[in-house]
Amino acid sequence: MKTILIINGEKYWPDYFAGYHVVQKRIQTVECVIKDSALYFIDVDGACKPDVIFWRLGAVNPEARHRSILELIDYSGIPCVNSASTLLMGYDRLSMLNRLKKLGLPVIDFNVATGTNQLRNLEMNFPFVVKVGNHHGGYGKSLVTNEEQWEELKDLLFIHNDYVTTEQFIDYQYDIRYLAVNDKVWAMKRKGKYWKANSLTREYQLIKPEEEWIEKVKQLKEDIRADIVAIDVLQTKDGERLILEYNDIPGLSGFPEAAKIELSEMVKNKLK
Ligand SMILES: Nc1ncnc2c1ncn2[C@@H]1O[C@H](COP(=O)(O)OP(=O)(O)O)[C@@H](O)[C@H]1O
Ligand SMILES: [Mg+2]
Repeated sequence: MKTILIINGEKYWPDYFAGYHVVQKRIQTVECVIKDSALYFIDVDGACKPDVIFWRLGAVNPEARHRSILELIDYSGIPCVNSASTLLMGYDRLSMLNRLKKLGLPVIDFNVATGTNQLRNLEMNFPFVVKVGNHHGGYGKSLVTNEEQWEELKDLLFIHNDYVTTEQFIDYQYDIRYLAVNDKVWAMKRKGKYWKANSLTREYQLIKPEEEWIEKVKQLKEDIRADIVAIDVLQTKDGERLILEYNDIPGLSGFPEAAKIELSEMVKNKLK
């Protein structure tokens, strides 16, 4: 029986892989070993030698160790969804943004400094958004609306050992996530309680994906050789649309069941 290893991810995933030996482990407590060219994932529950890996890290604080694990997966040649090389490319927000820019996709402009001793040089006209490091799920992001808040935030940011970006706050009408899995594309509007649509999310509304944006997300998916990818798009009242980011481990909340099925089939197909 083939072994599917799920790294993190929701509890429901094993239900999609009936007939397989499914193991779920947490990145926080697992160690990887390559011995005699075979890759093992070891934690207190034992060792797992996977035939395919399903990487579902959510809003986990990024660590250098995660990148090392992805390098080992890449080295081992064991298939992974997304592939380890795709995940490595998207791991760093800056390389993710570079990728979007190189493809000529409408990515938001930003200021950036490699260290927090340069924060004063990142100031913009209020309101603007500060983003620190490679965090997901709305973490490490703050809206700054006035001088006093900026002063306060700079002191807190100063203790971080990471790069920081600032970008204009977009007074958006819609926050739309385009999700591509295999050759299928879905689109969903999201609304949060405050300015972040993906934190304290109150509303999900599936919408008909627009042809132009189906093309864009497919172009990206092909370029980064992804099995699954999502782009987060902000649309203003006057119709301007900007991409905030792409996410190669997108959350699927609010998307139809078909998206989960499509994704789980992709994982199984890697075994053929
Ligand atoms: N410049 C911005 N202007 C307005 N809203 C923003 C801006 N940047 C982020 N947001 C809001 O915050 C959410 C999370 O930001 P995002 O850049 O997608 O990071 P992540 O989802 O990886 O935490 C977005 O979906 C959007 O609703
Ligand atoms: Mg996002």
